[in-house]
Order: sequence, then structure tokens, then C-alpha cells
Amino acid sequence: MSNRTIQVDDRLYDYILSVSLREHDVLRRLRAETSELGALFQMQISPEQGQLMFLLARLVGARQTLEVGVFTGYSALSVALALPEDGCVVACDVSEEWTSIGRRYWAEAGVAHKIDLRLAPAIETLDALIAEGRKGSFDFAFIDADKVNYANYFERALVLLRQGGLIAIDNTLWSGRVADASVNDDDTVAIRKFNESLHHDDRFSLSLLPIGDGLTLAMKR
Ligand SMILES: C[S@@+](CC[C@H](N)C(=O)[O-])C[C@H]1O[C@@H](n2cnc3c(N)ncnc32)[C@H](O)[C@@H]1O
Repeated sequence: MSNRTIQVDDRLYDYILSVSLREHDVLRRLRAETSELGALFQMQISPEQGQLMFLLARLVGARQTLEVGVFTGYSALSVALALPEDGCVVACDVSEEWTSIGRRYWAEAGVAHKIDLRLAPAIETLDALIAEGRKGSFDFAFIDADKVNYANYFERALVLLRQGGLIAIDNTLWSGRVADASVNDDDTVAIRKFNESLHHDDRFSLSLLPIGDGLTLAMKR
């Protein structure tokens, strides 16, 4: 028994997956193909995080969602599978090469019509959505792109979300480097500052989950 978060070693991690992972066959195959990209594979979220995002999207009754950082499309597919037939993921990325892998799997899973891929710097796409009058119209957002822009993405997502909508932000533990004062590269400093900026901001309820590489949840008040 413990009153703090349990340490998860390899044996326990395998156990967690063995008793709780429900991975759609198309997600499993997408993960396998992405693993062939070598070191880039680490950019993909973990399967248990994808499953959590499916659950979160269902919990908030998501129809309209945002994604910043698509890569080969695993997280977008996880959320799209949770949406009703008329739901939509506005998915932002700059890479035609990586997202084209995702497009194949979205089609195979029968959810391509729910994913609106916008290939442009995400700040431009989010600003365009705000300019189009989409303020307060999204239910869920996932932020997982370039770390130095996290604060910019978060502020725009907060504007675009309805009250009670949920923002999930990935990599907020950054392999533990955020807690190591001797590490001060641009990405680590940006995530550290971002985490600190959220701590006492009362525009949303907050939780930082030690799942994957750290997943922060902020529910708009
Ligand atoms: C960590 S990966 C996303 C992983 C993805 N969520 C998944 O589950 O597989 C980050 C992605 O952000 C994209 N990205 C980087 N800078 C960007 C920008 N300024 N605007 C939009 N996307 C960007 C990259 O092309 C890359 O595909």
C-alpha cells in the first residue's frame, strides 16, 4: 500500500498491458509500421495512453476535437474511434510524409471522414479556426508537437474549447529531465516553464498523470 504513485518497472508495465490493453487491430498495425521508422518511433504515444485518450474523449462526450502533432496518426486514430459518426478531429501537422502513413490506417479503420488534416504550422491553423468563429466550440484537444510552442498551442486551445472541455498535453515529464536542474536545453526549459505556468492558473482544473512521458490534463472552467 502507498499514498504516492507506484513505480512501474518492466514487469509491472507488462502486467498492466496484459490485463487492460484493448488495442484496435488497425492501431496495432499502425504501431508496428511506425516502429520500422527506427528512433522516430519514440514520438508515437504509448498504446495505453491511446486507450486513455479514447476514454477521455468518451467521458467529455467529444464531437469536435483538436490535435496538434499528428506524426503517423496513432493518437488521432485513437480519438477518432471514440467519436460519433459526425464527430471530427481537426488534426494539425507540417509533415506530408508522416501523416500520409496515418491516412492509410484512418481509411482502413473507417474513420478517415472524421479526421480533417491541416498541413500547416499549427499556430496558423488554430488562429484560422479562431478567426472563423470556432471559439468555444471544441470538446477535447491534444497537444503533442514542438515543445517550444506548447504555451502558444495551449492558449489557443483554451480559447477554442467550450466550458468543461478537456486539453491533454503530452510529454510534460520529458523523460524526467524537467526535474533535473542541470538540463537546460530549449525543449526542457520550455516544458518546465509551461508546467509552472499551469500550476496556479485557475481558468481550468488540473492534473499531471505519470502515464507515458507525462500527460497533463486541464479541464476548462
Ligand atoms: C511527437 S510527434 C506527434 C505524435 C503523435 N501525436 C502520435 O501519437 O503518434 C510531433 C509532431 O508534431 C509535428 N510538428 C512539429 N512542429 C509543428 C508545427 N509547428 N506545427 C504543426 N505540427 C508540428 C511534427 O511534424 C510531428 O509529426
